[in-house]
Amino acid sequence: MAKRLVTYFSASGVTRKVAETLAQVLGADIYEIRPEVPYTKADLDWRDDNSRSSVEMRDKTFRPPVADEGVDISAYDVVFVGFPIWWHVAPTIVNTFLESHDFSDKIIVPFATSGSSDMGETVAGLKPSVAASTTILDGRVLNGSPSKESLVAWLKSLGV
Ligand SMILES: Cc1cc2nc3c(=O)[nH]c(=O)nc-3n(C[C@H](O)[C@H](O)[C@H](O)COP(=O)(O)O)c2cc1C
Repeated sequence: MAKRLVTYFSASGVTRKVAETLAQVLGADIYEIRPEVPYTKADLDWRDDNSRSSVEMRDKTFRPPVADEGVDISAYDVVFVGFPIWWHVAPTIVNTFLESHDFSDKIIVPFATSGSSDMGETVAGLKPSVAASTTILDGRVLNGSPSKESLVAWLKSLGV
């Protein structure tokens, strides 16, 4: 059976909860993508044009540094990558994470939480950060504390 890993970035804890449930359902290892400098509440103020998240997300080439990258991706075949939707896409720290490892020939399953947005152009924003041989599935927004049953149904439909 494919070896699966659940990774996630979560600035305020919502995506973390979903990732933990998903890892439980999968019986998978879990790894948190942590920023070198944690985001404060003020950093996350999307109403403020000058907040850290607003400034970072305006420059899609910027890569927020991640804290210790002590995870061995080579041990896994399928990697779930969770994050909050920021300005309709994945936070660029997810690109930092993807670019810090070799995802050649692996399958990535993105999942997200959001206020209301769907995945939109999220996958298109992640593709340049992985190898040509990496498959990134469409993924899904998993809002509203999804039940284990609904996650099992989703995983079945993915076939991974
Ligand atoms: C900087 C920033 C930008 C956001 N942009 C969006 C957005 O474009 N669409 C949306 O539905 N929610 C947006 N949100 C809301 C988050 O996606 C949502 O609160 C998410 O569940 C937070 O997850 P977390 O607790 O794991 O960080 C944004 C939040 C922040 C902080």
